[in-house]
Amino acid sequence: MDYQKLVDEAFEASQNAYVPYSHFRVGACLLLKNGQRIYGTNIENAAYGSTMCAERNAVYQAYCQGYRKADIEALAIVGDCTPLISPCGACRQVLAELLDPMTPIILGCKDYYEVTNMQELLPRAFTGESL
Ligand code: THU
Repeated sequence: MDYQKLVDEAFEASQNAYVPYSHFRVGACLLLKNGQRIYGTNIENAAYGSTMCAERNAVYQAYCQGYRKADIEALAIVGDCTPLISPCGACRQVLAELLDPMTPIILGCKDYYEVTNMQELLPRAFTGESL
């Protein structure tokens, strides 16, 4: 899999970020096993808590289109920060439920990326299995 291409496409997606408050653009590129890509950016709001992160927008969009975790090949999340973007706690909780724990998650900045997964990003997650 060409992770650098996913990182590049996530950066392209970040150009659509709506960030009048933080001015911090985040982009996400979700690759489906059928080859389709679904993009996300952060969308902010004057009521700051109503902001939605890039990676949640991408994964929610995939689910809205009827895809599920078994259909997802990889997710790239990028931001122009050093060393790498790190998903917020709310995103980790959502991704832990909506992605397979071993699905590759590529965290990228301009000239570097690392590959991780939800097993590493949120060990011992609270899931529906606990209910
Ligand atoms: N943000 C994301 O979109 N994803 C992350 O993983 C970290 C934070 C956004 C939310 C907000 O619009 C801006 O970055 C600053 O927190």
